[in-house]
Amino acid sequence: MVGVTGGSGPIYAVRLLEELKKRDVETHLILSPSAALTIKLETDYTVDYVESLASRKYNFRDVSAAISSGSFRTDGMVIIPCSMKTLAGVASGYSDNLVLRAADVTLKERRPLVLVVRETPYNLIHIRNMYIAARAGAIIMPASPAFYHRPTTMQQLVDQVVGRVLDMFGVEHNLYRKWSGPQAGDKDVGE
Ligand SMILES: Cc1cc2nc3c(=O)[nH]c(=O)nc-3n(C[C@H](O)[C@H](O)[C@H](O)COP(=O)(O)O)c2cc1C
Repeated sequence: MVGVTGGSGPIYAVRLLEELKKRDVETHLILSPSAALTIKLETDYTVDYVESLASRKYNFRDVSAAISSGSFRTDGMVIIPCSMKTLAGVASGYSDNLVLRAADVTLKERRPLVLVVRETPYNLIHIRNMYIAARAGAIIMPASPAFYHRPTTMQQLVDQVVGRVLDMFGVEHNLYRKWSGPQAGDKDVGE
């Protein structure tokens, strides 16, 4: 399951869905209304395009959907990006929409729940909510790209984060060069 909420960076969700589709991974997608807004404000993609990448899409308000029950078997869920509001809903078990209900079910069924949280700076409420969600079993994976693969384009930065999400679900990819110690040509950092 892929939940997309109104944190900055819906491009992460677009790249994730494109890569999952390429690999024929079955995806169940829920977009929040704020995610639809950030897609419009921050990218050149349409909501229709993003939804077309998923095997199945759901209405944010439809808490009767199949994915709102633990009896519907999944490999887990990623919320990408995960707003601080949605993080708060996960941390408090306040499941009043399908993203939050599916996340709650994922935790109760002890399946992987990856939260690609996006905000900066964090206040204590955000930090406390991340702590509570992590204690409940969620994997907190901030949208915080690394630089060890020497990115030169924005897509490489985005793909490094998306690659780390795929790593969490054991999906093979080569979206970024994994760190395996300094390579020939890297500066000698030893004494
Ligand atoms: C362009 C834009 C960028 C935003 N970026 C963030 C962000 O990075 N993190 C965040 O927590 N909220 C961000 N927000 C605010 C959320 O979209 C807002 O709190 C919303 O109610 C979240 O609802 P949702 O979690 O149901 O999608 C942003 C809003 C807009 C319009």
